[in-house]
Amino acid sequence: MQIGTIKVDNPLVLGPMAGVTDWAFRTVCAQLGANITVTEMVSSRALVYKDKKSAALLRKNTGSICGAQIFGNNPQIMAQGAQLALEISGCDFLDINMGCPMPKIANSGDGCGLMRTPELAAEIVSAVVKAVDVPVTVKCRLGWDRGSINVLDFAKRMEDSGAAMLTVHGRTRSMLYSGKADWDMIAAVKKQCTIPVIANGDIDSAEAALKCRKWTGADGLMIGRATFGNPWIFQQTAAALQGQEVPERPLLAQRVAVAVEQFTLAHEDKGEHIACLEARKHFAWYLRGVAYANYYKEQISQIKTMDDVHRIAEGICRDLQ
Ligand SMILES: Cc1cc2nc3c(=O)[nH]c(=O)nc-3n(C[C@H](O)[C@H](O)[C@H](O)COP(=O)(O)O)c2cc1C
Repeated sequence: MQIGTIKVDNPLVLGPMAGVTDWAFRTVCAQLGANITVTEMVSSRALVYKDKKSAALLRKNTGSICGAQIFGNNPQIMAQGAQLALEISGCDFLDINMGCPMPKIANSGDGCGLMRTPELAAEIVSAVVKAVDVPVTVKCRLGWDRGSINVLDFAKRMEDSGAAMLTVHGRTRSMLYSGKADWDMIAAVKKQCTIPVIANGDIDSAEAALKCRKWTGADGLMIGRATFGNPWIFQQTAAALQGQEVPERPLLAQRVAVAVEQFTLAHEDKGEHIACLEARKHFAWYLRGVAYANYYKEQISQIKTMDDVHRIAEGICRDLQ
């Protein structure tokens, strides 16, 4: 498959997730088989206003093709924001968020709000394509709500405006993250488009990935929530997609070692205080399904320093399996 000029085999994408897919987690997922990653979404307006926190979210990881994702609804500001995002990050492609359902974003016409104004969405893609020299991609949903599903028309407009790839999350804005993703609609988009289409929504195992690829005919797959504390889903899915035997997830001690590696990278990236606060959430995810882990989950909820991280990791490896 090609994203514009970028060639990628068996595309397996880590879904961009605000508050989750920071540089450290993207690095770990890339090591384990995510061959495309995308930064957390960043406001184009905030970039234009030189907001330092937004810029910091755009750090490009190694080991995968990495896109920078921006949101906004003003073509000129999006074009400027796109240039800045690429200047800051050196990313390989620029992704436009047209799927975010959160009221603060979507109700102001950003994110999935753009699916209600397809002409404006198309204008934004054209403006951004003109402004940058890397492929421009779009991530969208099926539409605003059940009564206004417009992804087929929308996809055509994105393609005609110069988008190099389209990711479709098979839900509407009003479904948020509940209900079932509609893979039939993704299949219909794939059938119609000449640019690559990435299927997204409810891929939660290597088996589901195989099923989704067959169902939708999509060129690539994006995995979101199923990666929480489980970057091995990429290793497993990559094997399945290549027709190989799906490897077992490593034993707990090795999984904990990867978690610690992630938090060490996060420490390097954003300092001990923030890295440790955020490790509370990630570390608990890594322990999901582990028996007798309540004592350690309690400890994890109070992590303040990297010493705490190492002490808890040692305890888990000693006491649990
Ligand atoms: C906590 C969270 C944050 C998200 N942030 C973003 C984001 O910044 N940009 C984006 O395009 N999608 C975002 N998404 C949507 C995911 O990328 C993905 O489309 C969605 O979770 C569906 O895939 P899944 O069923 O595999 O989780 C977010 C989802 C979650 C759960």
